[in-house]
Amino acid sequence: MDRLELVKAFREQAGWCERLGSPLYHAIMLRIAGDVDSSGISWSLLESHSEDSPRSLTLRFPGAVHRLVLEGRAPGLARYYPSVGGTADSQAAWTAFVRVLEEHGDLLRNGVPQTVQTNEVARCCALLPGFLEIARRTALPLRLLEIGCSAGLNLRWDCYRYETSRGAWGPPDSPVVFRDPFLGDPPPLGQAVCVTERTACDLNPIDPASEDGRLTLLSFVWPDQMERFRVLSRAIEVARTMPAVIRRANAVDWLESELASLPNGSATVVFHSIVLPYLDDPARDQLSRILNEAGERATNDSPLAWLSMEPGENEADVHLTLWPGGSRKRIAKAGYHGRNVECTR
Ligand SMILES: C[S@@+](CC[C@H](N)C(=O)[O-])C[C@H]1O[C@@H](n2cnc3c(N)ncnc32)[C@H](O)[C@@H]1O
Repeated sequence: MDRLELVKAFREQAGWCERLGSPLYHAIMLRIAGDVDSSGISWSLLESHSEDSPRSLTLRFPGAVHRLVLEGRAPGLARYYPSVGGTADSQAAWTAFVRVLEEHGDLLRNGVPQTVQTNEVARCCALLPGFLEIARRTALPLRLLEIGCSAGLNLRWDCYRYETSRGAWGPPDSPVVFRDPFLGDPPPLGQAVCVTERTACDLNPIDPASEDGRLTLLSFVWPDQMERFRVLSRAIEVARTMPAVIRRANAVDWLESELASLPNGSATVVFHSIVLPYLDDPARDQLSRILNEAGERATNDSPLAWLSMEPGENEADVHLTLWPGGSRKRIAKAGYHGRNVECTR
């Protein structure tokens, strides 16, 4: 990575922040780009990361600074970060941002996180039509198996509330409420669902019950995107009260062993969201083979469902296959973060 590549990456990231609704990060990313371009302090902290992808540094570097703010170690910058009660002010925030770089230089030079790790809870809105359809068609309780679950927050999708002008689904007292996530008609919301098991895997799972896990997840949310920040904070609280089993494992190996037998009396539901781009072609083929082979063993008493929200025609497409006898069909389209869900009729 050379300096100019990094400048370009921060400028591009500034564009994404503007388009995706973070004026504060739009301004800060542009300032970092200018600072790197003039070999300022940002460059002196980042130049040792020459092996890293510039694109990932544009999220990991501001994420490390945001973490200091969340930990209460950067009170000057906290005044301008809405995530901790501040008021966004791009000009003043940049001055305070540079001060944090000066004060915490050693930590930031060596302590930029290795990966960007998020868990987008609003993706549950895109998955909801699939879960409800599986419950309706099988009339059985659900055994949930999620691959690439991150912190497992979406394994608790049934603990959240989904409100629309045509009715609502989910516990009325849930602290996590999604309002009007559907464009057009929502899915039929009268379906009761019972979840009997929540199990998942990730190559790098995050423990939402730990303070480190909480800070890791929150630090990557852009600090002026309060709705995402609130939903994530509340979902972390929910995860602390609703148990789930999460293994550190590769999706392919884990799924093969989990699907070795399909229990009678519940519908086994394998689901994933924005995970396939991280797998290579052979791994994607293996996953599909494992699911199709298990699908051939499914019966009406031990059905198997495969529900996915993955990059599609525009942003994300939601697909569902239900065995026995299943064929894959697209049931919805959605934004990458799970908003603007459009059910396919
Ligand atoms: C973009 S995140 C999506 C996380 C979560 N599904 C969501 O929608 O918020 C992708 C996740 O896939 C995990 N992952 C990538 N490759 C994997 C693999 N081969 N096996 C298991 N997990 C994997 C990553 O660690 C990361 O947590």
